[in-house]
Amino acid sequence: MLAEWLTYLTTPCPRHLREMGYLRELIALRARYRRRRRGWTKHLDQCRGLIAEAARASTRRRKAVVLGSGLLHDIPLADLGCLFGEVVLVDLMHLRAARRKARGLANVRFLDHDLTGVVKAVHAHVNGGGPLPLPAAGGLPEDDADLVVSANILSQLPLLPAQYLERQSRRHSGQEIADFSRALIQHHLAALADVSGTVCLITEVDRQIRDGGKTLRSEDPLHGVPIPLKGKEWIWDIAPRPEMDGAYDLRYRVIGGYWNFRNSTRAAP
Ligand SMILES: C[S@@+](CC[C@H](N)C(=O)[O-])C[C@H]1O[C@@H](n2cnc3c(N)ncnc32)[C@H](O)[C@@H]1O
Repeated sequence: MLAEWLTYLTTPCPRHLREMGYLRELIALRARYRRRRRGWTKHLDQCRGLIAEAARASTRRRKAVVLGSGLLHDIPLADLGCLFGEVVLVDLMHLRAARRKARGLANVRFLDHDLTGVVKAVHAHVNGGGPLPLPAAGGLPEDDADLVVSANILSQLPLLPAQYLERQSRRHSGQEIADFSRALIQHHLAALADVSGTVCLITEVDRQIRDGGKTLRSEDPLHGVPIPLKGKEWIWDIAPRPEMDGAYDLRYRVIGGYWNFRNSTRAAP
């Protein structure tokens, strides 16, 4: 707890990201990983295995780009560093813990970047007014990548902006916020569809609240947006009791696969 608080105080972070909860969430993710490491192994192995497979299937290997690099738990960084000339890790921000993991890998670079393009504008909208921003059509940073990995980020893109809008402003209906969330998810999928190299997409598709063997509630974290993928599926026991609640477990159904339009192949078992 003290270590987390110190990290919170000492990590350089733009004010809008701090106020919207991004730094807090990254630190919480690291703490949850430390507590649940063993239970997360299957999920993290699946992610790393799939990303390594997509990397090997990539015919050109100049540049790999990871979107949602976060703490790099689910990324086979050493494999990517060996296979590709350059690896770019993209997230809103990176903790020192993530930067330490890349120490010694000379061809790995960090890029702090908002993949929706609207996070700062949402903060300004809530605090200053004006219309609710929507993502502008446009591609990804590093648009010459031979491999793009979207690493457990798709459902996360609208999460904190939607919570900030709900918490800080009474101006928007639930419907407006759901439409906004869908727009961010669709924007990311459209950007992935434009990639000319190999794309590996891993995302949760179902959030389940469980009691023992029974699912009590199931939520669609993608707000009804279909994903263009019939991939591998697995369960991520992200928060077994008492992590989130003393009486309930939270788990995700996750899907992951990869495709390459340039080679006209769509690899997904
Ligand atoms: C569940 S984590 C992904 C897990 C990560 N691959 C790991 O192993 O630690 C979701 C990540 O998405 C990032 N993120 C959320 N919104 C973002 C945005 N608009 N632009 C870039 N990154 C964003 C968060 O900072 C977080 O690191």
